[in-house]
Order: sequence, then C-alpha cells, then structure tokens
Amino acid sequence: MNTTEAIRDRISTRAYLDKAVSNETIIKILDTARWSPSGTNTQPWKVAVVQGKTKQAITDAFLNANKNGIKPNPDYEYYPTEWVEPYKDRRFKCGMDLYKALEIGREDKEKRVEAALANYRFFDAPVTLFFFIDKIMCKGSWFDMGMFLQSVMLAAREQGLGSCPQASTSDYPDLVREILGVSADQFSLICGLSLGYADEDHPVNQYRTSREEVDSFTTWFE
Ligand SMILES: Cc1cc2nc3c(=O)[nH]c(=O)nc-3n(C[C@H](O)[C@H](O)[C@H](O)COP(=O)(O)O)c2cc1C
Repeated sequence: MNTTEAIRDRISTRAYLDKAVSNETIIKILDTARWSPSGTNTQPWKVAVVQGKTKQAITDAFLNANKNGIKPNPDYEYYPTEWVEPYKDRRFKCGMDLYKALEIGREDKEKRVEAALANYRFFDAPVTLFFFIDKIMCKGSWFDMGMFLQSVMLAAREQGLGSCPQASTSDYPDLVREILGVSADQFSLICGLSLGYADEDHPVNQYRTSREEVDSFTTWFE
C-alpha cells in the first residue's frame, strides 16, 4: 500500500469485527507513527493503549455519566458555538449521511441517541488509543499531535486495520485520567482512537464522506 492509497483508503470505521489485534501490530503502528514531525522534534504525544477490562471500565464510566446527566467537560473546545457557512452545511451533511447509512429517520431521536452513545462503546472496537498532551505545550504542539494521529491511522491502514478518531471520547477527561492514572495537572486529553478490523459488511462502513475540490481551497501566486 503506498501513501496515496493509504490516505485515500482510510475512512472513519464505526463497526468492527470481534477479532483481536495483537500487541505486536499495535507496536508496529506506533513504531511507524513516532517518525511524525514535530516542532523542534519535541514529540509531544503520549499514548495509552486501552483494551479489555480497562476499556470496559471507561465505557461504563462514560455511559454512567451520560445517564446521570453529567455535562461533558472536555479539556478544549473543538468547535465554535456559532456555526457559519461553509462549515455548517458540511457538518449537517456529514451527520445526515451517517444517519442515512444507519437507516435512522429524521424524527427518530432514540436511535440518534443510541448512535451517539456508540461512541462511548468505541463502536465495539477491541482497542482504543487515548492521546494526551502535556498541559505546558501550546497550540503548535497540538498540530504536531494531529500529524501524529494521522500517521497512526495510516500505519493502521497498512496493517489492514480500521480506525476512528473520536473527540466524543474526550467528553469526560477526568474519568479517563482517573481510570488510567494520568495526572490531571499535567496532561490534557486530546481524543480517543478506536482501532480494529473493520466489519466491511456493516452498513455504517459503506458510508463515504466527500471532499471539496483542490481549486476551492487553493490560491496560486507567481
Ligand atoms: C479529531 C477528530 C475527532 C473526531 N471525532 C469523532 C467522533 O467523536 N465520533 C465520530 O463518529 N467521528 C468522529 N470523527 C470522524 C469525522 O467525522 C470524519 O473524519 C469525517 O466525517 C470525515 O470522514 P472520514 O474520516 O470517513 O474520511 C472525528 C474526526 C477527527 C479528525
């Protein structure tokens, strides 16, 4: 698989087979991703590989918090509070297409909630990676982290694995830090990444997002 294929072939995988991923495979992925660039080679990423009972404990804690009406309290604001075009439209389409793939109607609030809560179950992926960054680091290091995340997803692709980055799994960072024994004073939780073998036949994995053409975001100068 070449780089172009890996980039174009990667999708957010939201249904997985009940098939274990070996630790050797996970190590291979991280061993590749560590070669991602970062400002002055600071390599600001910290990764927790979470499986089995610990993953279940995090799912239980998330679902419990949701059930008790505890408001998400992420370490950072991913999105603006007021949406404007063209982002508003793209975001709307993204959600609508996902519901369509899952055959969830416009009025079916219950199923929508269920679909959202699937995030807290990591879409039944056998592995989730949590990405943390030292609180001392600034915005620049956060984009180093973004590059690292993409490297992880592409390396996973090469290993035949699907993945889904999930900002939703940073809704309750204190719960994650507590279960994983990560210092709340030192580390911000960026997001989780579900990882596993894709259930290729599941309708949700048939759904494909689109992208704007190069001309729409590029200006040439001479
Ligand atoms: C940092 C980040 C956080 C995301 N969080 C979620 C999430 O919580 N739940 C989800 O289902 N998808 C999440 N996504 C996936 C996006 O919806 C997806 O990347 C986008 O719609 C493009 O689709 P594609 O990944 O299939 O190409 C996230 C993506 C990124 C990059």
